[in-house]
Amino acid sequence: MTVQIRPAALDDLSLICRLRQQRALWLAARGSDQWSTEASGLSLDYFAHVVDRAVTAGETWIAEMNGEPAGTITINDQADNELWTEAELADALIVHYLIVDLRYAGEGIGRRLLAHAAALARTRGRHWVRLDAWTGNADLHAYYRRAGFRLVRVAVPDRPSPSCALFERHVNGWLRDEGLVGSRPETFPISAQAHYPIGLPVLG
Ligand SMILES: CC(C)(COP(=O)(O)OP(=O)(O)OC[C@H]1O[C@@H](n2cnc3c(N)ncnc32)[C@H](O)[C@@H]1OP(=O)(O)O)[C@@H](O)C(=O)NCCC(=O)NCCS
Repeated sequence: MTVQIRPAALDDLSLICRLRQQRALWLAARGSDQWSTEASGLSLDYFAHVVDRAVTAGETWIAEMNGEPAGTITINDQADNELWTEAELADALIVHYLIVDLRYAGEGIGRRLLAHAAALARTRGRHWVRLDAWTGNADLHAYYRRAGFRLVRVAVPDRPSPSCALFERHVNGWLRDEGLVGSRPETFPISAQAHYPIGLPVLG
C-alpha cells in the first residue's frame, strides 16, 4: 500500500464535500448527532465555504492511496473562540475536518494524516498538534486516545458549540512512536500568514 499526501486544489472541493456527506450519513446511521445541523453542525454549504478558503490558503491536504483520493485534513493555527488559550494556539497547529473515505477505513490513513500535521507543526516550530472533537462522541474520543492524544479539557465557550472536547499530542510523540512516517515537511507549502477571517466558525 502506498499512501501519499498532497496539497488539496480547488478541484478537490467536491471530493471533500462528498467525503463529509458520506461520513455524516455514516455517523447518523450509528446514532451519533456529530455533524448534524440539528446539533449545530455546519451545513454542507457552509462547510464548502470554509474549506474553499482553507484550500486557497494552502491549509488542506488530500491523502491518496495507490493514487486514489482516500482522505483529507485541514491544518492551520486557527480555532473557534474560547476553546484554546492564546498560548496554546501559539505553540500548536490545529487539525480540522479529518475525514477518511469509508472505502479506506481501517487502513490507518487517519493516523497518517495526523502524522502529517505533526511534521508540519515541527517545520513551523510548534510543539503540539491540537484539535476539538465533538463533545458527546465518546467513540471519537477513544479514537484520538488510541492515536496518542490526551483529553485536555472540555471547553465551555460563551457561544455554545458542540465540538468542545479538546485533545492534544506533543509532536515528539510521533517522532518516538511513528517516525513521522510518510511526511516530507520540506515540501509543505503552507503559509504562516494564512488566516481565516475573524469569527468564522471552524469547528470540527
Ligand atoms: C476519524 C477518521 C478520520 C479516522 O480514520 P482512520 O484512521 O482510517 O480510522 P478508522 O476509520 O479505521 O476508524 C478507527 C475507529 O474509530 C472509530 N471512529 C472514527 N471516527 C469516529 C466517529 N466520528 N464516531 C465514532 N467512531 C469513530 C471507527 O468506527 C473505528 O472503530 P473500529 O476500530 O471499532 O471499527 C475516520 O474514522 C473518519 O472519517 N471518521 C468520521 C469523521 C470524523 O469524526 N472525523 C474527526 C473529526 S474531529
